[in-house]
Amino acid sequence: MFETIQAAPPDSILGLTDAFKKDPNPNKINLGVGVYKDESGRTPILDSVKRAEAYLLENEASKTYLPINGIPEFISATQSMLFGPDYEIVVSGRAATAQTPGGTGALRVAADFIAAMMPGKRLWMSTPTWPNHPHVFTSAGLETAAYPYFDPETRGVDFEGMLAALKTIPEGDILLLHTCCHNPTGVDLSPEQWAQVAAVVSERNLLPLLDFAYQGFAEGLDADAAGLRLLAESGADMIIASSYSKNFGLYDERVGALTMVTRDADTAAAVLSQIKKRIRANYSNPPAHGGFIVSTVLNDPGLRAQWEGEVTAMRNRIRDMRHLLVETLNEKGVEQDFSFIARQRGMFSYSGLTPEQVAALRDKHSIYIVGSGRINVAGLTAANMDYLCDAIADVLGS
Ligand code: LMR
Repeated sequence: MFETIQAAPPDSILGLTDAFKKDPNPNKINLGVGVYKDESGRTPILDSVKRAEAYLLENEASKTYLPINGIPEFISATQSMLFGPDYEIVVSGRAATAQTPGGTGALRVAADFIAAMMPGKRLWMSTPTWPNHPHVFTSAGLETAAYPYFDPETRGVDFEGMLAALKTIPEGDILLLHTCCHNPTGVDLSPEQWAQVAAVVSERNLLPLLDFAYQGFAEGLDADAAGLRLLAESGADMIIASSYSKNFGLYDERVGALTMVTRDADTAAAVLSQIKKRIRANYSNPPAHGGFIVSTVLNDPGLRAQWEGEVTAMRNRIRDMRHLLVETLNEKGVEQDFSFIARQRGMFSYSGLTPEQVAALRDKHSIYIVGSGRINVAGLTAANMDYLCDAIADVLGS
């Protein structure tokens, strides 16, 4: 039956971890997948998470199925993470949320919903974007298209190009936006630019789909939601795919959420029923453990304060690593200007290294970064910085 099946290429991000594990070089560094590491190079379990797990171990009374859209306390906590606790959207009940297996699961359920409920609508993605985005959407049968986003000259947003392209998108199409910490570039829209995007969204009646995987990793938990809240204020219907993988360090628990913002509570109920139908036909209902950890932490003032401190510490360490990377490259005599790395936000730096230089880093130095030149800055430590910067100097021929 299967003899004619051709092997698929390895995943451009997760495939690097497989290759890294097989590499015998003791100095190897994995700066591919977006996973946070502490200064000792470990991906820690947050103390707030450990405390919530201890509480759950003691108090969990059943492993029965969750509702199709997940834990009610998780859902309300997620809506207040997105919009703030007293926001009109939360109070009026015009948003519907489903707990999903990670942010990727949320994107896939959204894609299934769009394919079924909005036939013929195209989904527009930034160039570049997270390499898994096109796979998720085309797997659901959606047609995708692209708008410009990154300007390699300024290493910032090509806002003029982006806005001009958005103005040509047909009415009713879906516009994918990264709420903060744009993956892979690390360059985000300013509040003024968000306002201009919101104006085009309303002029052209577009449906924004916000991918929100890094809340807390740019400026702060509330500050990072500014673009989303601005769009929400403009009254747009919206789809939001959010994730607790990074800000809770719950990568392997697969805990995220899909939130549909609609015009009123009745519409939200109808939309949620269609979302639940898609979930039931896919994975039936979400896994419980990660969702219970998140709702335990977010609904307990003490645990929440501890967690917020832990998010701040992760964000600050990443920022410190950005500065140390720029300084160390200078010290190594690298002449190319890498100062932009300190201005980018979130886990990733779009380094500008070419595919050949990326391959040389891997083959000569056992340093694994994504083919686009994306470096996971959150994987850097004071201890591996010299080795990395020597290797970059080598592949640049400095
Ligand atoms: C990444 O971009 O590295 C992360 O979002 C992890 C993933 O699933 O690709």
